[in-house]
Amino acid sequence: MAARLVNMQNMTTVASSIIFKRISSRFLHMGEYFSRGILNEIELQTAVPLAGRKHLVSSNSPGFPKYLSGPKDDFPMLVKARKGQETSMKHWALRSREIIDQAYQRFEKNGTAVAILFRGLPNANERDFSEWVNNLGYEPFSYVGGISPRIEIEPNVSEGAHDDSVITVEPHNEMGYSPRFPKIFIISCLKKSQWGGETAICDNRDFHVKLDPAFVQKCEDREIRYWNCLHSKDSHKNRYQSWQMRFITEDKDKVNDFLKNENYHYSWEENTVFYWKNLSPTRAHAISGEQLWFNQLSALHGSYYDDMPCYEDLKLSYKEYPVHSTYGDGEEFAEYEVDNHRRCIWESAVGFHWQNGDILFLDQMIVQHSRLSFEGDRKVGVTLLDY
Ligand SMILES: [Fe+2]
Repeated sequence: MAARLVNMQNMTTVASSIIFKRISSRFLHMGEYFSRGILNEIELQTAVPLAGRKHLVSSNSPGFPKYLSGPKDDFPMLVKARKGQETSMKHWALRSREIIDQAYQRFEKNGTAVAILFRGLPNANERDFSEWVNNLGYEPFSYVGGISPRIEIEPNVSEGAHDDSVITVEPHNEMGYSPRFPKIFIISCLKKSQWGGETAICDNRDFHVKLDPAFVQKCEDREIRYWNCLHSKDSHKNRYQSWQMRFITEDKDKVNDFLKNENYHYSWEENTVFYWKNLSPTRAHAISGEQLWFNQLSALHGSYYDDMPCYEDLKLSYKEYPVHSTYGDGEEFAEYEVDNHRRCIWESAVGFHWQNGDILFLDQMIVQHSRLSFEGDRKVGVTLLDY
């Protein structure tokens, strides 16, 4: 009888240690400075229409999701600063880093994507946000060679996408078109717009498995070619970004030097520069080594620019827009292939309810970010970092 009791006690101990391990691999220890939020606190407050949305390219294609999904458990994970723990943003950064490190340990254990929404920090403006990001202990990432206009407003903090507010920017991995890219993407909501402006996020592993395997194989075999075409600032075709703006120079020789150093193929036609490079559609995660679908195949397809209001009265061939993507041998993607890629992304994307002062920390090799069209003033701060 006594032996049976000991066995039962052992079994109970083993069972509870298994349960503890499961729970501890799922939940992070919040410590004295933070508490764990619940899903209800970040649920979308209103339906966010997608199908048929104006200036959401491919949204009229068959099967496009009607609405944006809400947040899933831990995607993003809400972490709230405890009241009464008044301290500087520098100190909050050190405490936040402890949470981020645990999230990365959990990612290594069970693959949970690192997507943390910090709420309740004393983050009133871009200066506060800059203090926080610059004290996390990561390497700053320089945006040299990036294709979007970016304006730094505080050290290591830039304004968000400059694309017209009526446009919806689809979820993408930052600089997925480039051999060098940041590993971390952080965005802070400093002023919420009156309508729209959500930051939908998407785990690229979720939508990758929805893609047609034959299409995936074709892209892997032939790679992706990113075409760039930049008109001069005084050209009537320059509606988005001139070469002077992208390369921050008026000197063509400096442009040539940059393109040579980065091993681009390039040519000039009068005052317009064309350059291109092939890249694999996949990249190995810097920590786990997992091969990820990491590219901007549909985000940078010419059809995105073709749908912009600034090109309404000037129809160009796709290769005359600032960027365009094709197969690596130059063959165009079929329209349904690009539509399907976008549909799979939006089907897997989730939105959440922003509050002013929120900070979203993403492992950007896995988690894509976007910007839904909006109305009213909106201000965000964006930071790119490396580890
Ligand atoms: Fe981006």
